[in-house]
Amino acid sequence: MNEDKCHLQKDNPNSRRANGLDRRDFLHGVAAVPVLGLFGYAVHKERVFQRAQTAAKLGAAAPAGNLPELNVALIGAGAQGSVLLDAMLKIPSIRLRAVCDIWTDYSLKRAINLLGKYKFEANGYEDYREMLEKEKGLDAVVIATPDFWHSRQTVDCLRAGLHVYCEKEMSNTLEGARHMVLAARETGKLLQIGHQRRSHPRYLHCYEKLLKANMIGRIVTINGQWNRSVQQDLGWPNRYLISQDRLEKYGFKSMQQFRNWRWCKGLGGGPIVDLGSHQIDIYNWFLDAKPKAVMASGGIDYYSRESHEWYDTVMAIYEYETGKGPVRAYYQTQTTNGSQGYFENFMGDQGTLVLSESEAGFRGSIYRQPEAPPWDEWVRLGYVSAPRVQMAKKEIEINALLDVRESVSPDEHQIPVEFHDPYHKPHLENFFNAVRGTESLNCSAEVGYETAVSVLKVNEAIEAGKRLYFQEDEFKV
Ligand SMILES: NC(=O)c1ccc[n+]([C@@H]2O[C@H](COP(=O)([O-])OP(=O)(O)OC[C@H]3O[C@@H](n4cnc5c(N)ncnc54)[C@H](O)[C@@H]3O)[C@@H](O)[C@H]2O)c1
Repeated sequence: MNEDKCHLQKDNPNSRRANGLDRRDFLHGVAAVPVLGLFGYAVHKERVFQRAQTAAKLGAAAPAGNLPELNVALIGAGAQGSVLLDAMLKIPSIRLRAVCDIWTDYSLKRAINLLGKYKFEANGYEDYREMLEKEKGLDAVVIATPDFWHSRQTVDCLRAGLHVYCEKEMSNTLEGARHMVLAARETGKLLQIGHQRRSHPRYLHCYEKLLKANMIGRIVTINGQWNRSVQQDLGWPNRYLISQDRLEKYGFKSMQQFRNWRWCKGLGGGPIVDLGSHQIDIYNWFLDAKPKAVMASGGIDYYSRESHEWYDTVMAIYEYETGKGPVRAYYQTQTTNGSQGYFENFMGDQGTLVLSESEAGFRGSIYRQPEAPPWDEWVRLGYVSAPRVQMAKKEIEINALLDVRESVSPDEHQIPVEFHDPYHKPHLENFFNAVRGTESLNCSAEVGYETAVSVLKVNEAIEAGKRLYFQEDEFKV
């Protein structure tokens, strides 16, 4: 699934490897060193890697033509709705027929105007129920409203016969999320949850190639974070004020709450749900496991408690029991200092895999533990780039008086997956292709539910002030 986007060969080297490298490759790799010297050896490996890349690109699937058209509506055209709209405008054979948003003078107008520029005559609605009544011939709907609306809107859209792409967090309550899973099952319609990393070519490459090849060995610990700098509350232009009646009709007490719903109990789940759900979803996916327990500390340590009901700082530790042994996974989100942004860091006994969705930070690297078998074959196959050779660093290692207890720095290899599309485009494409019947969903309702169970428990653990356990049947609907 989506393998073509990774631009990589489909060889499965597992059959040839017992110990990370076969004898022929090992001899070939070692023999090159004295002839070329250390720097020449790196250049040689880089060329081998480049050749593998080019070969893989030539073999990649051609872009699909003549896709059946799909008629699509968007519900919720705020910050994320605009991002999704922008991505959908770059996907062929999508007809954007309608937009619904309760902020009619601002979000709705902006979306309809944008669509007009792309020659889409989309109809605008304030209430999604009116949209469902009047819009005939829709195939699918994309939902990007605040979390507390997801369940009602998704269930109604599925029952109206539409396939649904619903943003994360699937719902702010497990009950709401459960209704969504059941409605998808009852109606037989598709429900994709917006954990878009599940369709990201770099994440898919790491899961399908590097982890399956066991490159980093047994994962024993994970750490990850999403740190953000201090942010002001979101405001609104006075001329776009929504009437109090309308705000209340849609569940908001005030304009302040309408704009800053994430921080409010009953509407969102705070940063651990908003941000953490993306990455804790990756922990579960990459470990192929669900957590057994979680303990967490968190608080409203910085912002005003008047406007912030959820924790601005959370530190959580999950415990997993995987087929290969126990794993402890730390996750932190805080909103007062953006140090090092966001990433997930998987630490195994043979290497470390660090990944981020952010193109602005680092795209991903994998580090070989010095005592692990060489990775020449993975470089040859284009799974990872040649190691970064830092001559200056080597000089220091040779000349400096290192303490004998100090670990040698591991080799850094990059993840060779170029990605220049909007972050959400592959996940939307996966959804639309699933509607057309050519792919299966990368994040079904059931998967989204498991993530919601894993993440929502953190807030409970903070309140309880103790380790909470997950029962196996909690993850099932
Ligand atoms: N996948 C991601 O990377 C990602 C990133 C950001 C946000 N999100 C998710 O997207 C969703 C929206 O977040 P946002 O940042 O765009 O919020 P936002 O407040 O900027 O936008 C929400 C929009 O929904 C509209 N709205 C509110 N209630 C509505 C209703 N009942 N019917 C129709 N429209 C309604 C609002 O008027 C607003 O325009 C959330 O679930 C959030 O978690 C996902």
